[in-house]
Amino acid sequence: MSEAIYISGTGSYLPEKILTNQDIAKTVDTSNEWIVERTGIESRHIASEAETTSYMGFMAARAALADANLTSADVDMVILATMAPDMICPSTACIVQKLLGCRPIPAMDVGAACSGFMYILELARNFLLGSKNYKNILIIGSEKLSAMVDWEDRSTCVLFGDGAGAVIVSKGDHNGILDVFIGADGSGANLLTIPAGGSARPASEGTIKARNHYIKMDGREVFRNAIKYMGESINIILKRNDLTVDDVALVIPHQANMRIINMVAERANINRDRLFCNLNRRANTSAASIPIALNEAISSGKIKAGDLILLVAFGAGMTWGASIIKWK
Ligand SMILES: CC(C)(COP(=O)(O)OP(=O)(O)OC[C@H]1O[C@@H](n2cnc3c(N)ncnc32)[C@H](O)[C@@H]1OP(=O)(O)O)[C@@H](O)C(=O)NCCC(=O)NCCS
Repeated sequence: MSEAIYISGTGSYLPEKILTNQDIAKTVDTSNEWIVERTGIESRHIASEAETTSYMGFMAARAALADANLTSADVDMVILATMAPDMICPSTACIVQKLLGCRPIPAMDVGAACSGFMYILELARNFLLGSKNYKNILIIGSEKLSAMVDWEDRSTCVLFGDGAGAVIVSKGDHNGILDVFIGADGSGANLLTIPAGGSARPASEGTIKARNHYIKMDGREVFRNAIKYMGESINIILKRNDLTVDDVALVIPHQANMRIINMVAERANINRDRLFCNLNRRANTSAASIPIALNEAISSGKIKAGDLILLVAFGAGMTWGASIIKWK
């Protein structure tokens, strides 16, 4: 079966409220200068109570469907990546499916933290390649991380933001998604966690007092591994597609930290003008970061027909991945 899989539409949603570094410096011992110098982040979007992960995902999905000239009736599956689901059960994807008014099509969540978008892209691609039952798969990265960070922990609360990005992956005549590579190493599972609230450590007075329902991170180790695995992912995906970095028009890295992005780019010989970054205004939106950035790169005219785009991500787990897309 030689079928082509391509991106037929993209969309994103960002909450209206913006929280600046200066705003955060009013509540924890930090400064705009420290945050900008160590991360490149200046501000981030923060969801209201009504802007849940499902709602933001739904809004991004609606925009992606409109961009693809499709309706919810055309969607054959919903896959949503998040580390901030509305609740542990049911999946946030089922809630989005209902909000969109889809047919009773399959809907599921995938947990791969900040690499989530690479994982759901690979899943969608393989469902489409391997089955005649699906034509359009809606994939969404949506994150209300403001609900998961400890606003008393200055080493993490400055890093994250809220938002959603959605992509329609379709079967068609464009050979858009040339390849996706994903990987994981569970030996680094302890480096970035939300320790309590699952079945291993259910919610209790003790877990709440210990603030164990919030993100805990070994920043330095995450930093080191992000550079290592994003670099390796780039090398693997280029090599197995007989490409060099010079063939790529635009690189869209996971937006976690400007120092990570710069070091990865330097090691891979990627020129600054071929890097898409919106981290300064979005912060780290985990699984939503790449689809939001992709949508912004398209709408700002940074991607032209025929361009090769390289996506690359790293996240908790540890997880990582990369993709090469030939723009339609
Ligand atoms: C979190 C991160 C910015 C910290 O930067 P760093 O240069 O590693 O800083 P360190 O953790 O070594 O801390 C240095 C000092 O800054 C302090 N510090 C931490 N956060 C601070 C903040 N927001 N404001 C001011 N000082 C801060 C620390 O307490 C420490 O102080 P000490 O030396 O008195 O103990 C960095 O480790 C990082 O970005 N890691 C990757 C995080 C990430 O991207 N995660 C998601 C991946 S998908």
